[in-house]
Amino acid sequence: MRGQLIEVPPGTGKEPDLWHHGDAEATPGLVDLAVNVRRDTMPDWLADPLTASLAELAAYPDPGPARAAVAARHGRPPAEVLLTAGAAEGFVLLARALAGVHRPVVVHPQFTEPEAALRAAGHQVERVLLDPADGFRLDPARVPADADLVMIGNPTNPTSVLHPVADLVALARPGRVLVVDEAFADTTGAPGVAGEPESLAGRRDLPGLVVVRSLTKTWGLAGLRIGYLLGEAALLDRLAAVQPLWAVSTPALAAATACASPTAVAAEREIAARLAADRDHLVARLSALPGVRVAGRPASAFVLLHLAGADRVRETLRERGWAVRRGDTFPGLGPDWLRVAVRDPATTDAFTEVLAEILEA
Ligand SMILES: Cc1ncc(COP(=O)(O)O)c(C=O)c1O
Repeated sequence: MRGQLIEVPPGTGKEPDLWHHGDAEATPGLVDLAVNVRRDTMPDWLADPLTASLAELAAYPDPGPARAAVAARHGRPPAEVLLTAGAAEGFVLLARALAGVHRPVVVHPQFTEPEAALRAAGHQVERVLLDPADGFRLDPARVPADADLVMIGNPTNPTSVLHPVADLVALARPGRVLVVDEAFADTTGAPGVAGEPESLAGRRDLPGLVVVRSLTKTWGLAGLRIGYLLGEAALLDRLAAVQPLWAVSTPALAAATACASPTAVAAEREIAARLAADRDHLVARLSALPGVRVAGRPASAFVLLHLAGADRVRETLRERGWAVRRGDTFPGLGPDWLRVAVRDPATTDAFTEVLAEILEA
């Protein structure tokens, strides 16, 4: 399956290249607005245990303490946590363990790896495409009633849309596995809300719910490979059964424990609040540009924008030293879409000035 799709060149209008990722666009020498991993100095509470774990590398990894720490963070028993080598491994485990599903549905536009993993495992995947005219909002009624596996992102990459809990809850039902990719949930915040708005990570009452989490983005750990799944113990047992032994390394486990601490969670909330201000700045600058339309109500570490001829603008931006993420490799988008990472106001100002010049030329 994988080979068949790769053979179709991206941009032909036939089939988006599901295996294209932003890191391929962030070539050295360009200012990177294509990848959504935060790059900041690692705090001591994370760097110290990570470094200390290197002294333990002679032993096989013991996931017990990290599993307990993550479980405590989300108010669940440890049996409802499965640590994975990044969220990406979680999608592969789901695709392999749930070989018997009949009607898997992926809600797009979203991160393409869930569909890619399903296809690689031999599933026939159906897509539900959300409507740009409606701000890419989820209408639960669009998902076929007999879909026995549904995958959706919240907040969604690349649209940055945060779906309300009620709409996601409407998708859960007995006989269906509902996978909610919350890789960017820690980037969201709302005034007056103490935790992550619209997260299902602590919900234990929804049948078939699996929440996918990643420590990659906020903590700048893309190279470490650490994430986890939250869900019913019996379902996670099925996923664990297809996971390679010792899939999560000792340093990755140390990071998982550290990032589950109250200190880490408080730091995440502060980062999310700063990000919201930086995002407002980016949205204001972009919205002032002729022909540029920001999609929906962005809620994460990136914004999606519509701009006629965005594919050519992206090439010119590269010539001027700026990398942004192409939109045409996401099902439901096309050559007129770009995804731009939220950065500090000075970077945003420099970027939008260059973009304005390109648009005026
Ligand atoms: C929405 C989304 N989910 C999951 C992932 C994969 O995260 P990880 O690095 O934890 O595998 C990504 C990476 O880009 C992503 O954008």
